[in-house]
Amino acid sequence: MAPISIKTVLISESVDPRCKAILEENGIQVTEKQNMTKDELIAEIKDYDGLVVRSATKVTADVVSAANNLKIIGRAGTGVDNVDVPAATKKGIIVMNTPSGNTISAAELTCALLMSLSRNVPQAAMSMKQGNWDRKKFMGAELYGKVLGIVGLGRIGKEVASRMQSFGMKTIGYDPITPPEVSASWGVEQMSLEQLWPQCDYITVHTPLLPSTVGELNTNHMREGCELCKRGLEVWTEPPKNHSLVEHPNVISCPHLGASTKEAQARCGEDIALQIVDMVKGKNLVGA
Ligand code: NAD
Ligand code: MLT
Repeated sequence: MAPISIKTVLISESVDPRCKAILEENGIQVTEKQNMTKDELIAEIKDYDGLVVRSATKVTADVVSAANNLKIIGRAGTGVDNVDVPAATKKGIIVMNTPSGNTISAAELTCALLMSLSRNVPQAAMSMKQGNWDRKKFMGAELYGKVLGIVGLGRIGKEVASRMQSFGMKTIGYDPITPPEVSASWGVEQMSLEQLWPQCDYITVHTPLLPSTVGELNTNHMREGCELCKRGLEVWTEPPKNHSLVEHPNVISCPHLGASTKEAQARCGEDIALQIVDMVKGKNLVGA
């Protein structure tokens, strides 16, 4: 593609320092400003050529419309739910993500949550901190021999499958796009959701936020005692306004920590900077 002129970039969140360093090494002037209100962002964005965000910055249609020079919105992460992509596209602004930089971290957190669910680790640790010694209350279950249902067999779903297979779990799944023969090659048998729900001891969800994925989980057809390890318990309306699920004793929740490792942040920060530099040099673009 033809080179695109990017002289100034605003980084509006905590993104790995490699991002700024790579942009600057390539002659791009970088400004870092975090925790801006929507109005402050609208006032600030006016003259920048590029914007780099994680998930806290909401790049709404008003922000896009205030950006007079913006050519690229770079998301140092996978999902672009926080960017109004149609509004950006209408204005000719490219939206790029870094789709694989945090895959392993998100998959590892999923496995940690599955193990925490099966052995009540957070509840038991909290109970001991409160001075209790309650072995009976925290009787768990082995993962070995259990059935894990994986909804969404993309990058993260695949990595979760291989890790949990090493624990002796049977992995089944559903994905409308990944071909069944492809997932079968990494040990995941595909079936319809109606067939999947009643077979699972554990369910984990790794789908994008789309109209088709909202409300896709059907608890009515799940086996009694089935454990859910889903994106919905890791990623909320942030921060959650209704705390009833968080406070439920059987719920283990995290404040959107899937990508919060040094390694994932370094990869995403570096990837988005290199993708912007590629744009400037007229190389082919990657990302969704
Ligand atoms: P991916 O695109 O590789 O995989 C998503 C899969 O979902 C695809 O295979 C797609 O075909 C499938 N899918 C689409 N519609 C579906 C439906 N209706 N039912 C079932 N499957 C459906 O994406 P990924 O890298 O595996 O990431 C998955 C999600 O995880 C993304 O939305 C991303 O935002 C999120 N994520 C969260 C964190 C975190 O910190 N919590 C970190 C990384 C990614
Ligand atoms: C993502 O979509 O990559 C995640 O939400 C991770 C993040 O950037 O926090």
